[in-house]
Amino acid sequence: MRNKNPSSIKKSRRNAIKSILILAGVAVFSALIFNSFFAKERSVELKKLRITNIKDVPKGTAYTFNGSLLDQNLKEISGPFILIHLHNGEIKAFSAVCTHLGCTTKYSQDTNMIECPCHGGRFNPQTGAVVSGPPNKPLPEVNLTVDSNGDVYAIGVRTQ
Ligand code: FES
Repeated sequence: MRNKNPSSIKKSRRNAIKSILILAGVAVFSALIFNSFFAKERSVELKKLRITNIKDVPKGTAYTFNGSLLDQNLKEISGPFILIHLHNGEIKAFSAVCTHLGCTTKYSQDTNMIECPCHGGRFNPQTGAVVSGPPNKPLPEVNLTVDSNGDVYAIGVRTQ
């Protein structure tokens, strides 16, 4: 076996260190690229949907609207949705799609319930929770914001 001289050992050490530094640089650069891409994915703008002006929905009535909104997992949820101006002045909105088999629910002023015409499912208009009937999940609730003019916007949906 041939012995290496000290200058050739130094040279190969230098080359090894250079290679390690290049690999570390590539790793850091890749991590930065991946993070900036991932950050873009996570900061997807939530859709903001103007629904109506609250003056047009008197207390104790409801307004059905369509569109699509994003849930907390950025999954698109399509309407119809139902906005309810409760007797106590609160404004609530939910997906109007029944969680049993997907029929469209409606708000009943008579019973103060969200009712499904297909199999009699009933939901609480304040929480979306199932009150009776076959559905076993609440209606997804729409996150709302109201501006100083009374315009009501949907800014997302909370699903379970
Ligand atoms: S689809 Fe609504 S109760 Fe069955």
